[in-house]
Amino acid sequence: MITNPRILTSLSKKIGRNDPCWCGSGRKYKSCHQAFDERIATYARQGHIVPSRKLIKTEKDIEGIKKSAVINMAILDEVGEKIHAGMNTQEIDDIVTRITAQMGGIPADLGFEGYPKSVCTSINNEVCHGIPSKNVILKEGDIINVDCSTILHGYFSDSSRMYCIGEVRPEWKKLVDVTKECVEKGLEQVKPWKFMGDMGDAVHQHALKHGYSIVEEIGGHGCGNAFHEDPFVSYVSTPGTEMLMVPGMVFTIEPMVNMGVPDIYVDEHNGWTVYTADGQASAQWEVEVLVTEDGYELLSW
Ligand code: MF3
Ligand code: CO
Repeated sequence: MITNPRILTSLSKKIGRNDPCWCGSGRKYKSCHQAFDERIATYARQGHIVPSRKLIKTEKDIEGIKKSAVINMAILDEVGEKIHAGMNTQEIDDIVTRITAQMGGIPADLGFEGYPKSVCTSINNEVCHGIPSKNVILKEGDIINVDCSTILHGYFSDSSRMYCIGEVRPEWKKLVDVTKECVEKGLEQVKPWKFMGDMGDAVHQHALKHGYSIVEEIGGHGCGNAFHEDPFVSYVSTPGTEMLMVPGMVFTIEPMVNMGVPDIYVDEHNGWTVYTADGQASAQWEVEVLVTEDGYELLSW
């Protein structure tokens, strides 16, 4: 059972104008979030999907997520330094385990819904959730996504990068570059009082312009106080639809862009790894982004 997000705001406990604001600022509600809540309620009455209060991060939450992201990005930097042809993907998992422990964090992937490793390593036609293994050896010409997520003091960071192993065929290099541009096009649309669908469509149009497709079944998510929060973030969406963006929301932009068809299937042996249906290459970059008063701030990349 879940509550209809369109009417959640009206169910939230009524706060008196002179009561302390729900955000924990210590200020009176009327001089803190009252106008903000009323603005959201107006959109909800018009039938839009709006964020519930628990998706709005406080200053303390944002500081916590940023500290977690310092670890996440240090890991991806270190992977970038060390990754090379001949290396196996378990060695990437080892880097994640080592840096996370050194910096006092916890790998969010490990044990998540039974996931067996600390990071996802997805190569070529693997779309996501590739499982590190000492039997998977990187070779010249591979493209690989390393998707890393960290917990620090209960705060979650999540981002992923593509790495090209040595000389990569030009069509795949282009896929990697255009996928990064897709994320940048999406970021340009991240502004308060716009819609997630504005962002998703910008991502999608850029992929389509280059003849690529975007996976529909798997998308991004709210993130920060939990690994996967609402909303589900689609990159095949219509402008003016999906959840309203408001300051304090944190979510990921992480399109999976395929050279060929958007269709995918899941590995029947390990139950995790997702592949392209046609065996063509797929790329993904992921950032975690905060909606601010006038646009966005990247938290993890
Ligand atoms: N890091 C992935 C994401 O971007 C989630 C991986 S879940 C795992 O949302 F269990 F496969 F690790
Ligand atoms: Co994610």
